Amino acid sequence: MNLYDFEPKIVAFCCHYCAYAAADLSGSMRLQYPPNIRIIRTPCTGKLEVEYFMRAFEKGADGVLVAGCEEGSCHFSDGNFLAKRRVNYARQILMEAGFEKERLRMVNLGAADATIFVPMVKDMIETVRNLGPSPLAKAKIFVKQENPL
Ligand code: FES
Repeated sequence: MNLYDFEPKIVAFCCHYCAYAAADLSGSMRLQYPPNIRIIRTPCTGKLEVEYFMRAFEKGADGVLVAGCEEGSCHFSDGNFLAKRRVNYARQILMEAGFEKERLRMVNLGAADATIFVPMVKDMIETVRNLGPSPLAKAKIFVKQENPL
């Protein structure tokens, strides 16, 4: 890969009760979104640890999206608030490590919000596309160019 044919890879952790259902519904409604996004279903965003976001970047993601239930609608009471705190903490760590904080984003939506899910995904992809490859991916490209063998 070079920087000119960059297609962002986004990992989306989607809550089973809302964002995953919205993504599913968008498929049923034949609403299309780019294939740059890889959805991982989670029982609740409150289950996600900071380590999961970091691991996604380590494994090659250029951006990570966390999509949970609307505030006050989490099926496990306050899971989405926990996730919000962890995302904010992870954003600080990312900035200290030289990443742009916009690469990690949390959103809240309902199960019927397919028409919100699709533009939200597209916006995330465009944001990351404008940022370029993650600093880790850039480092790998640089090493490859320096050492083609
Ligand atoms: Fe959806 Fe907790 S059940 S965020």
